[in-house]
Amino acid sequence: MSKVLSLTKFIIQERAMFPQATEEFSTIMTQIALVGKIIARELSQAGLIDILGSTGATNIQGEEVQKLDERANEIFVQAFEDSHIVGTLISEEMETPVSVSTTNNSGTYALYFDPLDGSSNIDVNAPLGSIFSLHRLSSLPKSNESLLRAGSEQVAAGYILYGSSTILVYTCGNGVQIFTLDPGIGEFLLSAGNITIPRRGKIYSVNEGNRWKWTSGMQNYIAYLQETDAPSGRPYTGRYTGCLAADVHRILLKGGLYLYPGEVKKPEGKLRLLYECAPLTLVIEQAGGIGSTGMERISTIHPTALHQRVPLIIGSPEDVETAEQVLMC
Ligand code: AHG
Ligand code: MN
Ligand code: MN
Repeated sequence: MSKVLSLTKFIIQERAMFPQATEEFSTIMTQIALVGKIIARELSQAGLIDILGSTGATNIQGEEVQKLDERANEIFVQAFEDSHIVGTLISEEMETPVSVSTTNNSGTYALYFDPLDGSSNIDVNAPLGSIFSLHRLSSLPKSNESLLRAGSEQVAAGYILYGSSTILVYTCGNGVQIFTLDPGIGEFLLSAGNITIPRRGKIYSVNEGNRWKWTSGMQNYIAYLQETDAPSGRPYTGRYTGCLAADVHRILLKGGLYLYPGEVKKPEGKLRLLYECAPLTLVIEQAGGIGSTGMERISTIHPTALHQRVPLIIGSPEDVETAEQVLMC
């Protein structure tokens, strides 16, 4: 019989081995796991209660807010409200940061999150995710500027993926672990540890409907992946769910690359730096991969706005390096 290791026990063990995994960090991860369980439960009942469809409102990104986007955001906020550890919440669904601190202690954490990723999948029972990023601040933020931090400063990051099962994937700078929710006992159990991404893959994941909006460099790169050339493993296979967390998770396990490029008329692309690109980059980097805009590495970018967008090319190191070489010339 294989060993059963719960998230709770894993975190306690990690604390002994790895200084970054402090007791405060354990508490935060336990709350994130709770958020994942609650959202998973609500998603499993979504068709039965009046929670599908749009709220009729648009968010700060100018995008239509689904009822489940709003509900998932509420679940995150409630889990960290009156927190003694996390002082500030920054969400895709909230225009400005929310202070949830009950103390004015000097050390505090800021949690950045995309409460529900892949919203266009809500009504069609396709995969959804939640993405999170954790920063440690030396003091409570006095302005939004102090929350504009590079991905390299993250102390932990990860995602929950609501698919055929619910999984929690995270790193605190000590490798990447995958936990699967056992709904019978309501616990996340370790299902794969110290994940390594293949150095090169055979999958590309991109919304090809945007092809004619891309630069010619990007159009040529995707055409290159589609050419037949057995020695370099081409053609690649296309896979795209419309849920970033799900598509990046496939790339983490199988190799290859995910791309959401900038467009000629919208060079910044679609995805958000602080709570989509930076956390997924930390996970992929910890597994041996790369996150890039094509021009610079995601983890080195110093944000200029909380909801800043950047192009994203993420995945196997050799695939992302090839894409960078093609796009930079
Ligand atoms: P969100 O639902 O949080 O707004 O994120 C949607 C993102 C991401 O999940 C996905 O990869 C991408 O948008 C899909 O966009 P397109 O429909 O433009 O391909
Ligand atoms: Mn998203
Ligand atoms: Mn979202």
